[in-house]
Amino acid sequence: MSQLLVRGGRSLLGEVAVQGAKNSVLPILAATLLTGGQVELRGCPRLRDVDASIRILKTLGCDARWEGDSLLADTSGLNCCAVSDILMREMRSSAIFLGAILARCGEAEMSYPGGCELGPRPIDLHLAGLRDLGAEIQDSGGMLRCKAPRLRGRDLVLSLPSVGATENLMLAACGAEGVTTIANAAREPEIVDLQGFLNACGAAVSGAGTSTVTVEGRHPLHGCTYEIMPDRIAAATYLCAAASAGGEIYLRKAREDQLSTVTAVLREAGCAVRADRGGVGCVCRGRLKSVRPVRTAPYPGFPTDAQAVLMAALLRSRGATVFEETIFENRYRHVDELVRMGADIRVAGRVAVVTGAETLHGAPVRCTDLRGGAALCVAALAAEGETSITEISHIDRGYECIERELRTLGADIVRTELREL
Ligand code: EPZ
Repeated sequence: MSQLLVRGGRSLLGEVAVQGAKNSVLPILAATLLTGGQVELRGCPRLRDVDASIRILKTLGCDARWEGDSLLADTSGLNCCAVSDILMREMRSSAIFLGAILARCGEAEMSYPGGCELGPRPIDLHLAGLRDLGAEIQDSGGMLRCKAPRLRGRDLVLSLPSVGATENLMLAACGAEGVTTIANAAREPEIVDLQGFLNACGAAVSGAGTSTVTVEGRHPLHGCTYEIMPDRIAAATYLCAAASAGGEIYLRKAREDQLSTVTAVLREAGCAVRADRGGVGCVCRGRLKSVRPVRTAPYPGFPTDAQAVLMAALLRSRGATVFEETIFENRYRHVDELVRMGADIRVAGRVAVVTGAETLHGAPVRCTDLRGGAALCVAALAAEGETSITEISHIDRGYECIERELRTLGADIVRTELREL
């Protein structure tokens, strides 16, 4: 088992290119099933969640292999419509494959994706929308057995702007006769990227990025070559690392228009953030200031995925900052680990109050989830002494070699093997 060892106290200096977006490539990998052809995904990040998606494609009879930083998928050989329970448990966002398998095969079988570290992860909105499109779904004993001999386009309304439900229904609608509209759709940039991929394959999808997405179904789809968008949450993470440690960094390919709620908070805290055509730069000198309450919200609000890393960056700020996590009910699991490093954080339900501490000290900590693990790295950069971070497989789900990126920016961080006791 691996761990990360971080020696804090060094400011960051340097430049890295932002990886491809995890939350874009996962739905796009599901969408490749619709093409029945060959797809080249350029700038695909090497992540544990991508590996899990590749295993799902292969169990469905498809092929997927790496060629440099491109992932080549060939879904012409699809010969199965069931995803095993083991694979579903590996990655709870595997539910995103349901709509694509239904659209391609007319039937699908998978176990109910379990909850995860963030709390229950229901898919009731996914299933309601698929039923509205004509799918018959039996939900018994933890298994979902779906039949959709003929999906028909409908006007759908989501009761909340669920990212996964929007994406699942976009993919199913591509296989439906007629036009489907999805009202109260999520507006995340990753949904715009999914629309871009689908249209590059010959689909007719419009409205992504707004609250209403429209899909003209049953267009014949073909393979394509597509560049995955940069990961805005990875970019937010490295900006928060610079805010935490101090220094000057530049993130090639980062797009401030997708990060504006995060960069606004960092500017309020005292960082100088500048964007140009090539990326986003950040200069952080001296102690940060606390900021106005940070309330997570669906895009374009403050991203829930950046809550933990921003909290870590503010642990030594002057004053107190209030966080309100409105998206997930259990997304403060990183707090106890940060407190072990000397952080002063009080949690009551969905609210957390961070009061700046004079110093943080290195400690043995463990990752509780993906973004909570990244937050431990961000905090460790500012801590006196050494921090050992275990359970780092959580981090590897969403960050491509986080220690390589942070080391390139000047951090003292290494990945070592834990001696089995
Ligand atoms: C996506 O998850 C992302 N994952 C998450 O990123 C991100 O935090 C989340 O969107 C919100 O932005 C991927 O894209 C792979 P939701 P998703 O459906 O689709 C409730 C990360 O760290 N809900 O928008 O699962 C749900 O419980 C991950 O990269 C229902 O009630 O998020 C949650 O409270 C973590 N019923 C809220 O909606 C449903 O049918 C938002 O969930 C679906 C969702």
